[in-house]
Parts: sequence; C-alpha cells; structure tokens
Amino acid sequence: MNTIFKTFPAIFLPVCILSLAACNHKAKNTPTTSTMTDSSTTVTLPPSSGFEKTIDGKKAHFYILKNKSGVQASLTNYGAHLISLAVPDKTGKLIDVVIGFADIEGYKKAMSAYYGATIGRYGNRIAKGHFILEGHSYDLFINNKPNTLHGGEKGFNDVMWDAQQINDQTIAFTYLSKDMEEGYPGNLNCKVTYELTDDNAIKISYEATTDKTTVVNLTNHSYFNLNGVGSGSILNHVVQLKAAGYTPVDTTLIPTGQIAPVAGTPFDFLKPATIGSRIEANDEQLKNGKGYDHNFVLDKHDITAPVATVIGDKSGIKLEIFTTEPGLQFYSGNFMAGGNTMLGGKADDHRTGFAMETQHFPDSPNKPQFPSTVLKPGDVYKTVTIYKFSVEK
Ligand code: BGC
Repeated sequence: MNTIFKTFPAIFLPVCILSLAACNHKAKNTPTTSTMTDSSTTVTLPPSSGFEKTIDGKKAHFYILKNKSGVQASLTNYGAHLISLAVPDKTGKLIDVVIGFADIEGYKKAMSAYYGATIGRYGNRIAKGHFILEGHSYDLFINNKPNTLHGGEKGFNDVMWDAQQINDQTIAFTYLSKDMEEGYPGNLNCKVTYELTDDNAIKISYEATTDKTTVVNLTNHSYFNLNGVGSGSILNHVVQLKAAGYTPVDTTLIPTGQIAPVAGTPFDFLKPATIGSRIEANDEQLKNGKGYDHNFVLDKHDITAPVATVIGDKSGIKLEIFTTEPGLQFYSGNFMAGGNTMLGGKADDHRTGFAMETQHFPDSPNKPQFPSTVLKPGDVYKTVTIYKFSVEK
C-alpha cells in the first residue's frame, strides 16, 4: 500500500500582514483573541488559551503555521486538529475556510462530527466493528451503531499527539497507538505532518509502521466552507470529482462491495455541478446517506492532477485536492444540526460545511475486492494529500 508522491511547483501570492507575535512557534498563552489583518479585513484566530490544557496527563498546545505571503493555519496537538485556515478570496480578503472551535471543550462537545480532526486508526466505517486478519478475529467498539466509525470510542481525534514544529510552515505530530488499543492489533507508530506551502496549500503527509499485521486508514476530517465559516449553506458550491465510480452503501452506510458507475446518477460530478443541484433527488443512495456521504473511486491518484475541485460561489475561492489515496469520502454535512458554536460565533447549521476525506475505501478489512488497508511489520504506510487554495478568475 506504499505510495509515491511528488510535489508540484509553488506559486507565490503575497496577501496580508500577520499581526501575531511569535507566529513561527507555539503561540503564547494569551487570554485575548488574536487577529491577523490586511487592509480590508480581520480574521479571528481562537484564543490560544483555549488549547493550553492538560489532557490525559499531556500538555495540549496551540500552533500557528504561516507561509511567506502571510496565509496562516492554526492547529493543536489534541487530536492533531486543523483549527483554522485563512486564505484570500477574490478581493484579497482573508477568509477562514475550515470549521473550528475556540477551545478543546468545543471539540469534545462536537466530537461525533470530527471537525478538522486526524482520523485513525481506521477512517470511516468497519461493518459491525469486526474483521478477520491472518486468521485472527478482531472486535472493535461500536460507536456508530451497528458499526465502528473513525477509529472507535477514542479515535486518533481524541488522543494527545506529540508535536514538533519544524519551521514556520511545517509541524509534525506523532502518536503511538498501542497494541489492541480500540481493539486493533499492533503497536502503530504514526506521524502526520502538516505543511503550509507558499502556493497556499496545506500538504498533509501520513506515515505509520507496525510491529504486528494490522489495518490502517488515516485521513483528515476538515469541513470546508469556501465562502467562509459561518457564511451559510454550502449547497451552491461547485464541485468536480474525477471519479467515474463510487461505492454504494446500505442504510448503515457500509459499502455493498460494488463499484457503481456515476454516469446517469446524482453522483456524477465528472463535469462541475453544485452540491445542491441534485441532493434532494429521489435516489436510494442519497436517501441512505441523507445526502452525499459516499466514497468516490478516484480515476487517478498519483498526486499530479487534482482529483477534486470545489469553488465557493460567493468568494471565488477554489480548493483543489491532490492525493495518493484511491478514494475520497464526499460528505455534505448532512448530520450538522446547529448544536455547536463555531469559531466566529455562528452555529454549525445543517450543510454549512462539507468534507472531502481522502482515504482507502470504507470497510476494506471486510471487502477483499477493495484496495488493501493491511500494514505488515517492516512495511511503511505512506500517503500524501494536498488541499490547495487559489482564486477562480
Ligand atoms: C462519515 C459520516 C459521518 C461524518 C461525521 C463522515 O466521514 O462518512 O457518515 O457522519 O463523518 O462523523
């Protein structure tokens, strides 16, 4: 399952001035909200004090990455979350496009939505929380009845990672998931590296090794609103997915095992279409997912060309996704219900964010016909995903 990746050329775009002090290191524990400004706008960062906590006996911190043009991301080692990402819109104004919260309590409260989290040990669902590997039967915690979702009861989104800020633009998080943690075999050493590149991309690189044969499927669960967090529905965002097939699901969102063509269905995003144009169609799969909540089988995943492109209808912000992963879970925020207050003060209302989780396919441990998620001792799990932002002219 090892994958090879290449970087792509950087395009430099000067945008703003950052008013934060010490932005190249762990943020100082200031009780006040930090801001970054340009001539036209102010983007609010969470108060770093919301993240300076001791969790499970380990220190959580708030980190900032900043590229040469001043674009910035904030993160925490609690769950290796991406908290915010401010990028320029068509007028040059900086907009936060990733849903996040002001403090760790916000993440704990909204846990089942996995906002901005690193997901592991296994992204998406494993049917009935059960699989057989090399003749051994494994049972996981059922946290999404009747299945296991995103790792189980305490997934990688809810654990403390060690952080190493490598430079202004790069941070690495490491975590040792112990043998039989959440029921998965093998001590799994994981590393997730976030790099904010000078061409306004977040590059996320994952690595893992094990001492016993196991299954691994790591991803990032950021929800985007390209018109800005709290700006309302994402239904008018325009999406293109380079996927001629997808994996239909049953009513518990477990893939049936087939790869179905998207042609002639509301899942055909080969040509750009708005998220909302067919989401209410009378379609069994849309009913099963309560909207889009499906794994798309990517035509190509060699990271040389975007597998997905999304454009914010109001902001003109374009997101292009590059990945080495064979699948992409397009989730249209169907379970968002307004119960949480996002950074910026607005509620996380229904479909005000969407996720594009690059991954191996859900339930692969029980679907031998899907690309393998098995990792053996001596092998290195290595995947890369890039979320690149620009402006559609
Ligand atoms: C899943 C959804 C789930 C969401 C938040 C997505 O990856 O496919 O079914 O509701 O994560 O938990």
